[in-house]
Parts: sequence; C-alpha cells; structure tokens
Amino acid sequence: MAKITPADIDTLTEAGEAVAKGQLVAFGTETVYGLGGDATNPEAVAKIYAAKGRPSFNPLISHIDSTNNAFDLGEPTLMAQQLADDYWPGPMTLILNKTAHCPVHDLATAGLDSIALRVPSKTEARIFLQAAGRPVAAPSANRSGRISPTRAQHVMDELGACDDLAMILDMGATEEGLESTVIDARGEAPVILRPGSITATMIACSTGLRPIAPSKDIISPGQLASHYAPSKPVVLDAVSSKDGDIMIGFGAHGQDAVFNLSPKGDLTEAAANLYDLLRAADMEAGKRIAIAPIPEEGLGIAILDRLRRAAADRP
Ligand code: TXA
Ligand code: MG
Repeated sequence: MAKITPADIDTLTEAGEAVAKGQLVAFGTETVYGLGGDATNPEAVAKIYAAKGRPSFNPLISHIDSTNNAFDLGEPTLMAQQLADDYWPGPMTLILNKTAHCPVHDLATAGLDSIALRVPSKTEARIFLQAAGRPVAAPSANRSGRISPTRAQHVMDELGACDDLAMILDMGATEEGLESTVIDARGEAPVILRPGSITATMIACSTGLRPIAPSKDIISPGQLASHYAPSKPVVLDAVSSKDGDIMIGFGAHGQDAVFNLSPKGDLTEAAANLYDLLRAADMEAGKRIAIAPIPEEGLGIAILDRLRRAAADRP
C-alpha cells in the first residue's frame, strides 16, 4: 500500500532514487499529478501501463528537467525552439521526432518515431526529475479513462492499492488543474492535439504560425471519446438542476447549487476546480452530474474538451 509523503528535499531525492531503481512514484506538477517511472526502463514502463489499466498503444509523455535535455531526446524544429523559449518550463507538451540516440524505450513511445516531451514548472517536480537523472515517463496518476488527480489524496483513492507504487509525493493541490497543451511541432504548422492553458492565440504569438486542429486520422492516440469520466453520467449545458441531478454551476448559472466551478465566472478558477468538483459531485447521492454552460473561449476550450469526453458514451 502506497503512503502519502510530504515533498521536501530529502523525500524528493529519495523519490528520484526510487525511479532510478525501477520503482514508480506519483508526483505533483502545475497541471495534474503524474505516475512516474524510468522512461528508459521497459519493466518500469510496463508497471505504469498495468497500474493504470491503460492500453499500451497509448504513448506516454517523457518529463525532463530542462529544455536542453528535452532537445537531446527529440529533434527541435524552429517552431519547437520558439515555443520552448516562451512556455517551458510550463504546462506544454511538444511532440517531436525522436533523436537517433534517444534512450527512451519504445514501450513508452508505443513504438512511434515521435516522442512527447514536457518540462514542468513546479519547483518540486523539477527537483525530483533532477534527482531521477533520466527522463521520467508519467501519465496522469488515475485509472485509465477516469478523472485526473489534482491532489495527493486523489492519487491515493485511485492507485493506493497498487503494489508497484513506492511513494505518493504530496505537493499540495495543483495550481492549474487541467493537463498540459499537447502540440505536434514537427510539421509546417503547430497542431494542437490536446487543448490546455497554452492557448491557440499564445501558440500563434510565439511561432507566428496559425495552429491547426488535428485531422481525423492523426488524432492523438490518447484523445479517446470517453475520458476524464466520473462514475455517474454527465450532462452539459444545464441551466438549472433537474430532479436527482447534482448540479455543478459556473458564474450566474447554478448560484444556489452546492458546487460552483467559479461563482464569479472566472475560467482559470474553473479549470483549477474542475476535477476536484467532479470527484466531489460523484460522491453525492444523485443519478447524474449536470454542468452549467461554459463559454467556449480561452481556457474554456480546454475545459469543454475535457467535459465533452466526461459526458461521452462510455465504451
Ligand atoms: O499535464 C500533463 O500533461 C500530465 C502531467 C502528469 O504532466 N500528463 C498527462 O499524461 O496528461 P497523459 O498520459 O494522461 O496524456 C498524454 C497525452 C495522451 O493524449 C497521449 O496520447 C499523447 O499525450 N501523446 C503522447 N505521446 C504522443 C505522441 N508521440 N504523439 C501524439 N500524442 C502523444
Ligand atoms: Mg490522462
């Protein structure tokens, strides 16, 4: 049974050493908590897929402590350099071609020629990555298809019983609450595979190029229709709560609801609260979770991307 351990310089170093020995460690980032293992070690990567119940054709993000180290694993394009200058460390994942000497195991990249790379900004996460001294493969630390964790206790609830999980580092509630923006930076124009807090406008400002949505056949393997799902069914665009529904309000809609993503209608606050409130609503007595309308602009695009998947038909 894994234990929640407060993150300090000693436990972060210990966690880095555990990863170097092939064990798994859950750690916080500015977005969501990750389930980390040595990306170069196939046994460690296999343990990650097993713990999540995740299909192994869905590749993992390799986390590193600096842009220099990232560009040693993936071939930087001009666009990738511009984006890295502006938004790394931070909530952005770049898809690049693997370098010839990239030590990340094929199992972590699901046998693709490309690799997903992220340099997180959270200080404790970077100390941990430095201590590990290798790329750390880390999906969100939840069971596959479920809500991503934004607190150490959520990881405990999801994966606490997993024997391969050596430690859950407590780094407090994550600041942003939504997964990183995933950008394919290999082609002529940036392709946003997963929207996040680094928005299309920010990507255009950085690169001078207009980002494009993925075509149906190059969609990110992880962007499945049903994802981020609580156990109860989810309905969107609810303006009031109907019988038996647990309402999650936003702004003026659902002011009297028990849960509100942001009473003042602030999208940044809503993103930070989203997964926490979905989990809380899931624990209430009631048949369905009904969510107030969210404006599809700025960070609202990423929030709605997650909510539509939470509301999608389950496999
Ligand atoms: O904020 C985040 O990105 C968090 C924290 C822990 O860093 N991680 C995260 O990982 O959300 P995960 O595994 O839940 O999502 C990774 C996404 C998936 O949609 C996956 O399919 C996509 O990145 N991905 C990974 N490698 C890829 C590749 N080579 N090409 C296209 N998409 C890729
Ligand atoms: Mg995930």
